[in-house]
Amino acid sequence: MSIIYDEKLKTFHLFNENFSYIMKVLPNGQIGNLYCGRKISPKKDYSYLLETVSRAMASYVFEKETTLSLEHVRQEYGVYGSSDYRFPAVEILQKNGSRISDFRFQSCRIQPGKPKLSGLPATYTEDDSEAETLILVLKDPVTEIQLELFYTLFSGAGILARSARFINQGKEPVHLLKAMSFCLDLPDCQYDWIQFSGAWSRERHPRQRRLEQGIQSVGSMRGHSSHEHNPFIILKRSNADEFQGEVMGFSLIYSGNFLAQAEVDTHDTTRVLLGIHPEWFDWKLEPGEEFQTPEAVMVYTDRGINDMSQTFHRLYQKRLARGYWRDRERPILINNWEATYFDFNEEKLLKLAKTAKEAGIELFVLDDGWFGKRCSDQAGLGDWKANPERLPQGIPGLAAKIENLGMKFGLWFEPEMVNKDSDLYREHPDWILSVPERNQCHGRNQYVLDFSRKEVVDRIYEMMAEILKSGAVSYIKWDMNRSITECWSPALPADRHGEVFHRYILGVYDLYERLTSEFPKVLFESCASGGARFDPGILYYAPQGWTSDDTDAVERLKIQYGTSYCYPTSSIGAHVSASPNHQVNRSTPLSTRANVACFGTFGYELDLNRMTDQELAQVKEQVDFMKTWRKLLQFGKFYRLVSPFEGNIGAWMTVSENQNEAIVGWYRILNTPNPPYTRLRLAGLDPEQLYQVSEDGEVLGEFYGDELMYVGIITSDGNFGSSSHAKKSRCDFESRLFVITGKTDSGSEK
Ligand code: DGJ
Repeated sequence: MSIIYDEKLKTFHLFNENFSYIMKVLPNGQIGNLYCGRKISPKKDYSYLLETVSRAMASYVFEKETTLSLEHVRQEYGVYGSSDYRFPAVEILQKNGSRISDFRFQSCRIQPGKPKLSGLPATYTEDDSEAETLILVLKDPVTEIQLELFYTLFSGAGILARSARFINQGKEPVHLLKAMSFCLDLPDCQYDWIQFSGAWSRERHPRQRRLEQGIQSVGSMRGHSSHEHNPFIILKRSNADEFQGEVMGFSLIYSGNFLAQAEVDTHDTTRVLLGIHPEWFDWKLEPGEEFQTPEAVMVYTDRGINDMSQTFHRLYQKRLARGYWRDRERPILINNWEATYFDFNEEKLLKLAKTAKEAGIELFVLDDGWFGKRCSDQAGLGDWKANPERLPQGIPGLAAKIENLGMKFGLWFEPEMVNKDSDLYREHPDWILSVPERNQCHGRNQYVLDFSRKEVVDRIYEMMAEILKSGAVSYIKWDMNRSITECWSPALPADRHGEVFHRYILGVYDLYERLTSEFPKVLFESCASGGARFDPGILYYAPQGWTSDDTDAVERLKIQYGTSYCYPTSSIGAHVSASPNHQVNRSTPLSTRANVACFGTFGYELDLNRMTDQELAQVKEQVDFMKTWRKLLQFGKFYRLVSPFEGNIGAWMTVSENQNEAIVGWYRILNTPNPPYTRLRLAGLDPEQLYQVSEDGEVLGEFYGDELMYVGIITSDGNFGSSSHAKKSRCDFESRLFVITGKTDSGSEK
């Protein structure tokens, strides 16, 4: 890994063994992009890659010169209004009404490792040798705003982390109206675009289409990253698939309003932009003040989509998530939400916990309804004190009883919200986001606390910290159940209301930071009505997230499959729930529910006391299985094998780092009459290694890695060794888990 700056030619080449990124100072002092892609040999002069041309209707930068038109060169941080007509990366409003910027190269710094982003989540290094950072220092001569563009190249893979920092060194305030984290101009548009979209209960379904001239974008203006779209997109060559071909993934480490966009111009160049959504964004920058954008991460590979995903998984698991739980196997939990909803008392909870303990479950999570007057979703949010009628000895009392059973205790909070029927609201009716004289919209009968204000965050912190200080709580589920409306804060002057959305998220991050640093051993799980804030920003604080409120195994197969394009299995909260399922009323086998959920942070969310003895025995077996294999399931190298979005079968697998162990999940949605022979080709194994394949504890046979990968496992009904599973009667929503372990080769057949 290296960053070379040629001072004379003013070029920058960032490269490692897989990736090259080359830039050059343009004749007008702005920065242009020359190349982004597979590694090319370092050489002195790449100036030939700066193509300029004279085109009809173009506008040119220099008088009497008709080649340098910003519209027709690839830029690093495009500006609108001075010969570029594409959507810009930056827009700054001056006092005189002008919105033009002209950021010219001043100097650069190259440093080992990666600098921190103050107040914002970001990737990090643990050792300076893991990455190198280039900081380009640019300045606008009129506004005297200094712009610093950060580029961190990680070693080993094509990982480039980018962000921008603005420093007002001038004498007048300005307004930042657009300040994207990432801008990349690519020389062609021969790409498929993949976005991850959906709604509550069907989050992150991949949607693919050809890039076309014009703008294609996804984003959120809901105040959180949203169920609807994820701050992650992929551009891939149309011949690229899971295992080969050129792929680029773009991910924004941010939990608020975002925009991810690709614009193809009439000459077929593509501009990729990622950053805070410019709608309602207006940040006033007084002289001396700074603004730091969130970080965006790009991953480039020429080895297919799985490789891109695995690169994100490694980075986000090891160098974005932090703290005590980052590398630890996650506790198997029972959550009472779908077991009781609001209808519980201490006795009922303890009964559930006792049965869970008998099944080997390690953590009991008390969900919504334990505090204030919270007996329905009409009241209580904001009053983070146990309801004495339900929990006579408060949280410490209940937690002690759970711990006496031999389990850890976890608790649900929704820190950012308030019901009007709450003591907090009665005390501080002005603490919600709302616009004077306007209607206040609600969502689920609740209102959004103004987290842009420190005193509001402080108050919530005090209430939460008081409970955590008792030491009784080992886990927190941090929920967030509505989108933001009337985004206005009485604490800010009229010309600063465009800052509230971003300040709100900074407040959320601040609370997370305070709690995670004061209580480092507490495991945080993020949640937002399921997966409405399943993004890399939150992953920095909470190493796992509740992936979706949809706990149906078939829907989950799709949701977890889509989520895996960017996020590691150690971050994917997945539970076994009741059948028929509460969201879609579908009945699925208990085995399939567990076989999907075990590719995540595993748990149960149903009333175990309603299960038969036989089912409880099966739960115990599942828990034992998970305890044996969870390191591999949560931290192994994950491969998508067959997409459930494309047919009746879904399949994935995880492989240990030394390729000695693997677990394969195979899922058939509907039973097929008189089916054809079927096989599943595996991936990531050592072709030379002899493996034993077993299912439900029964050995099915021994196979070399190359057989398993190039021939495949036979999944036809009634076949594959003498598997008793295969002989069982077939049904809809069936699944199989194959455990693959390396054997010492006797050498007899090979
Ligand atoms: C929404 C979450 O996604 C659910 O898991 C549950 O915690 C409810 N909120 C509780 O209100």
